[in-house]
Amino acid sequence: MLERVRLANFRSHEAYRLDCKPSTTLILGENGCGKTSVLEAIYIALQGKSFRAVDREIVKRETDFYRIEVEFDSGERTIVTYDGNKRQFLVGDRKAARLPKKYKHPVVLFLPSDLNLVEASPTRKRDFFDRLGAQLNADYSNSLSRYNKALKQRNELLKRPDADEGALFSWNLLMAKYGVEIRQERTRMVEELNRRLTEAYRSIAENHDTVRMIYDSYTGESSESEYLRLLSLDYERDHLTGHTNFGIHKDDFEFVFNEVGAEGNASRGEMRSIMLALKFIESDLLHETFGERPLVLLDDVFSELDDTRQKALTTNFERNQVILTSVKAPF
Ligand SMILES: Nc1ncnc2c1ncn2[C@@H]1O[C@H](COP(=O)(O)OP(=O)(O)OP(=O)(O)O)[C@@H](O)[C@H]1O
Ligand SMILES: [Mg+2]
Repeated sequence: MLERVRLANFRSHEAYRLDCKPSTTLILGENGCGKTSVLEAIYIALQGKSFRAVDREIVKRETDFYRIEVEFDSGERTIVTYDGNKRQFLVGDRKAARLPKKYKHPVVLFLPSDLNLVEASPTRKRDFFDRLGAQLNADYSNSLSRYNKALKQRNELLKRPDADEGALFSWNLLMAKYGVEIRQERTRMVEELNRRLTEAYRSIAENHDTVRMIYDSYTGESSESEYLRLLSLDYERDHLTGHTNFGIHKDDFEFVFNEVGAEGNASRGEMRSIMLALKFIESDLLHETFGERPLVLLDDVFSELDDTRQKALTTNFERNQVILTSVKAPF
């Protein structure tokens, strides 16, 4: 359980302290007063990086460092510092540039923008499922960051007028290797979600609707060698456009509601319920994986939900520690 949070020079907070309740902590305040920033700081201390920005944007303007300190009821403490240049985690009596795996704690983060994910762009959907995949599986997180590095390098090469196919080849190899790994992991994740989605949905809506997801990979079902071939085949187009056109960075996820595409078919409330259901499943999966109930961070989502859905949210996270923000008192 999270007991206390202290911030220094974190976005608009010069000095801030939050004492957390074992069950629900409410952060109440007007627009722009820094509520989401508190959740962001907690997320960094528990997960190792922000969900919305890089450090130099986070440091309070006109200052040159920030500090986050979180304390757990176990006595464990994580201190994050950033000196304008480097971020450092102090855990136990160790210093590290990245938060060590054993000091990470599972978090379910629910942002207002998550509520319309069903209709969101492929980029936002990938971000959403990548965040989930990375929390559930460190290998996934690894493959993804290696893939993204290779993609960035390859795109930089493509923008050079003298880029030749030979120079791209080593990046192609890495992208095919990690691309296939990521696709396999995304496939597994969607299968797992599909085993639970309809039931979780019905626990909110109490009806006979069915919900499932489709993982639509741009790369089809290509083997690693086939992937490599297709990637290399796009060389002319890639060079012309200055970026990589083939790969899992173009994958999409679709929601199916009562056997038709949810987008443009399910109502707004139904789409929101699908997202609630996904968050409940996320919490269960994290609990099963870590043997620890995740901390639930709810950013301003209550005001967007009707009574039934608010109730479902409260009931489902009854046994989790919850920190929520709101502009108006939600209860
Ligand atoms: N690096 C920074 N230094 C100083 N202030 C910042 C920095 N980054 C953001 N801010 C300010 O902090 C505030 C945003 O904080 P935050 O998003 O946490 O607010 P909020 O309470 O969640 O608002 P809302 O209710 O609108 O969601 C804004 O006023 C923004 O201008
Ligand atoms: Mg906010």
